[in-house]
Amino acid sequence: MLLVFSAVVVAVLIVLPLASPPRQIPLQRVPPDSESLTLDWNLETTPDTNWTGHLIFDTVSSLLQHWPNTRYRNGHNIVPGSVSIGTLLYHGRGDNAIPTFPEWTAIDPEHAFTFCKDSMPNNGSITGCWQLTFVTTRPLRVLYFDGSSGAKMENGPMDAQDLLLWGRVDPARRMDESERINELCAWGEDLGIDGYVRFLRECSEVMLCDFFNGVELLSADYLSAWMEGSAREPLVFGTILSGSWHTRYPGETRVHLDLTKLISFYDTSLAPSLIPDRESKERWDHRVLGISAPDLAAVKRRLQDVLTSDTDMGSSVDWKTLYRVVVDRYADRLEMLEYLLNTTTTENLHERALIIQTELRIMLTPYLLHSARPDWLSTADSVSYADGRDEAWALPVWRACATRHTAHIHRNSRLQSQLTSSERLLLGALDGTNREICRVLVRMWATGVHAGVDGLLPGQEDPSTPILSQILEQWRSDAHALIAWLDWSVWVKCRPMCPAEEMCYLPTWPYFGVNEWDRKDEQWKRPKPRCIRKFQPYSVLG
Ligand SMILES: *[C@@H]1O[C@H](CO)[C@@H](O)[C@H](O)[C@H]1NC(C)=O
Ligand SMILES: *[C@@H]1O[C@H](CO)[C@@H](O)[C@H](O)[C@H]1NC(C)=O
Ligand SMILES: *[C@@H]1O[C@H](CO)[C@@H](O)[C@H](O)[C@H]1NC(C)=O
Repeated sequence: MLLVFSAVVVAVLIVLPLASPPRQIPLQRVPPDSESLTLDWNLETTPDTNWTGHLIFDTVSSLLQHWPNTRYRNGHNIVPGSVSIGTLLYHGRGDNAIPTFPEWTAIDPEHAFTFCKDSMPNNGSITGCWQLTFVTTRPLRVLYFDGSSGAKMENGPMDAQDLLLWGRVDPARRMDESERINELCAWGEDLGIDGYVRFLRECSEVMLCDFFNGVELLSADYLSAWMEGSAREPLVFGTILSGSWHTRYPGETRVHLDLTKLISFYDTSLAPSLIPDRESKERWDHRVLGISAPDLAAVKRRLQDVLTSDTDMGSSVDWKTLYRVVVDRYADRLEMLEYLLNTTTTENLHERALIIQTELRIMLTPYLLHSARPDWLSTADSVSYADGRDEAWALPVWRACATRHTAHIHRNSRLQSQLTSSERLLLGALDGTNREICRVLVRMWATGVHAGVDGLLPGQEDPSTPILSQILEQWRSDAHALIAWLDWSVWVKCRPMCPAEEMCYLPTWPYFGVNEWDRKDEQWKRPKPRCIRKFQPYSVLG
């Protein structure tokens, strides 16, 4: 029996390839989509200074992550989303009553506990305080304001919500939190919004509109309280530490955003009035405050539209992941490239030029077509580096690099027709950002080829020191300009890294003072990372 079986198997194995040769589908050259043909493929053309796609790319890549939203506090995105079933929401208060009106809940208990109080006043002695824990019984529909939208500062973090509610930003109403929550909940009631997600001091809060709809009380605990004053320090640092768990990608994963409905104030077709407002301002100082009345009306209309549109609209493209692919592909490598450029000197110039060229080649490998070679390798013409920089031969590499990730979307008319306007914005921002990264890398790589430092494409003569110095300068300025333009928060780190007993911290409200403008130094304006101690004795915040 076994023998027969084996024989059959052997026969099948022998016969199969003959009987049915593996079918191969011939590769077809797919024509580039019409859009990529109409683009300007000149390696010297830099992006328009009014273009905001790189800012959309960076803010979208940073959604729900504390680090980038603590760095750039003035949010520019409003995104509908949901909080999944089974998510715990914590509410510290002075008694054990379930709120009958809108109230704040925290996604981490550490944050809620700072509001845990006792109904009985005490004299600083250690007693108890109330903390309520709720659980979501259905997905909550929420609206997320990015930036540090829960930081009660005058200088922009609350602009988007205040404009939406009150049509203007009034510094005197900075602390009008009760009005804010009540009016936001009233505004969103007909739209089925259960709550609003905001970030502040490394914490995520859900402003919950109805504690009897979509959540149920899991526990009302009379917890052991912490003393007032400096004895509460561990509490503060515990909050910062718990926030740091969601500080970088993927961020706060208990909230899910629907990017097909994203609204961005960096969308220049939606809010063109903000273009002149941003002109010659650093990114720290970008605010949405300067939006014109008609543009604000358009934003509100768009928001109404997305909140009343079908939940299953859109192309199903996973934008969050697609964006992340681009960040992953280049974040570490650009940082290393910059490090190499920063540490190249006249002594190690010859050795380093080869290493840097190799790094450029590694980054571009998936797009380095064998046919893309400079003229002097295919013709007898002698063109020396000094004769000018004809880089036409390198353009196919740039085109491949710049279009590969999204070509399938551009080419697929069914997908195209399903894109929401938010997705078209996301697509344009991704394309333009990726294209500029590729432009700079291809330009740098082609420069290295011309200078004769590429291991696989020999130059015409051995690179001389003056030529190498010259290309190093060009490489440096190209790389610095690209990195500054991208401005990804993944590159903002404590350098050197913090030791084990410390963590990296970005100064944030209210630790640098509740009234930021009271401070003499202006570090709150442009927060820089530094190491703080994780346990006692704690560092001075600020
Ligand atoms: C709290 O302190 C005040 C003034 O020092 C004192 O009169 C009062 O009895 C104290 N209350 C309690 C509950 O200890
Ligand atoms: C950028 O926008 C400003 C203000 O709208 C305009 O004056 C300027 O010409 C624009 N620049 C470019 C390069 O288009
Ligand atoms: C390289 O030097 C620039 C300018 O001094 C600096 O801002 C940057 O952080 C340095 N980058 C690395 C990776 O060392």
